[in-house]
Amino acid sequence: MQEISVIVGLQFGDEGKGKITDYLSDKYDVVARFNGGTNAGHTVVTQDGVFKFHLVPSGSLRTKMVILGNGMVIDPFALIDEISKIRAVNRDLVVKVSFNAHIVTKMHKVLDNMEEKMRSSMSIGTTAQGIGPTYEDKYARTGIRMFDLLDLSILKEKIESIYGMKSNLLKDTEFSEKNKRDSMAGELYEVGLKLKEYMDYTENVIYESYSSGKNILFEGAQGLLLDPDFGFYPFVTSSNTISASAFTGTGFSLRKVKKIIGVAKAYISKVGEGPFATEMFGDEAKKLREAGGEYGTTTGRPRRVGWLDLPMLKYSLMLDDVDQIALTKVDTLGIMDEIKVCEAYEIDGKKSKFPPKDIKTVQNFKPVYRSFEPWGDIADMIGKKVIEKSDLPEKLIKYIDFIEKETGIPISIISAGKERKSTVEINK
Ligand code: GDP
Ligand code: IMO
Ligand code: MG
Repeated sequence: MQEISVIVGLQFGDEGKGKITDYLSDKYDVVARFNGGTNAGHTVVTQDGVFKFHLVPSGSLRTKMVILGNGMVIDPFALIDEISKIRAVNRDLVVKVSFNAHIVTKMHKVLDNMEEKMRSSMSIGTTAQGIGPTYEDKYARTGIRMFDLLDLSILKEKIESIYGMKSNLLKDTEFSEKNKRDSMAGELYEVGLKLKEYMDYTENVIYESYSSGKNILFEGAQGLLLDPDFGFYPFVTSSNTISASAFTGTGFSLRKVKKIIGVAKAYISKVGEGPFATEMFGDEAKKLREAGGEYGTTTGRPRRVGWLDLPMLKYSLMLDDVDQIALTKVDTLGIMDEIKVCEAYEIDGKKSKFPPKDIKTVQNFKPVYRSFEPWGDIADMIGKKVIEKSDLPEKLIKYIDFIEKETGIPISIISAGKERKSTVEINK
């Protein structure tokens, strides 16, 4: 049967989507990314080494074709670099980049930093990859698209209009000089010529792949709680992360998807500012951060860490309409002295199982925790591809059963280590 699936993150990003996408990608002929840019950092660990993908889909090591969809924002220099690295490992990989994807320039990265400064105490803690300003230009209809890299005069014209609109922010930077803007246009044109062979009408490529019976996997970046509509605005990213954005980000029809896989960490991590109800501090946080190597893949920033938040998870599962959960990092969580899960919140003395929607309430609510016994170090016992759930440690089964019962969604994949082989599909 033809497989058409979507993978998305259910928390604040970095759930291990890259690892799960790589694990599943040998079953898919095409893997397509549909949102974000180099703000994403997706780690895949195999016998051949550690791969960090920022733009190219994490299925690149094993699939036949990868697509970078129109919903993405692309730093063309980073893309050239990633394509050459991946081609050294998967020589026959076909790479297709949407003509309609928007281009991140050096000027957008500078603007990202300038806008953060302007936000002052409301700063988001962005990845400084130019993501916000590039999506701003997309929706202001001044953006530079993949197409435009092939025409130097259009590039120059667009750069001038972006500069004109943002000159108040750029006037004290190198881009205030016309010759700097022109030389940036020249560099973009040069890199565009190198990328020309990969550019395509990817919406047609996906449709043709579908029509010829190919299995297609859509890979999301970031996580639901960073979605600009459903996350904790303004502490969010600039492209939708909800599973539905797979359609707008590639042009594929929403009628045809058969499976939606949501990836959640067994706890939560978060990079950047914003509310985080179940955040841990002190030695407890340090222990989990060190055990899980919780430092940003893109920026190296220490990630904030906290306990699993079930009301939030349920909210993400509902919005993403998830069929199956892939639960990652159970090895990391297992070594804590005590394991907690937030099962409800106390708001103004009342218990609520629904996540608060506004930031002020979030800051005032108290998580209500349920405790679980730690299952210890399990990294060595995972390795067979399919095992029975009953083969897992009893204490871990209790944790899994509780999440499944509360959410009503099966946990079908468990990840207990960085490597591809430390993954199990639970045979129900
Ligand atoms: P993504 O953005 O969702 O793809 O996740 P990242 O790659 O940014 O962050 C996840 C980190 O956890 C990476 O360093 C992975 O190698 C690592 N990782 C993924 N799954 C597991 C797991 O089950 N156990 C451990 N210990 N590490 C994992
Ligand atoms: P992956 O795909 C974790 C966060 C940033 C910041 C906010 C806005 O690896 O899960 P941006 O640069 O997008 O304007 O930053 O969003 N953020 C991520 N956090 N994982 C990511 O991607 C992220 N992409 C953006 O830290 O708080
Ligand atoms: Mg990441």
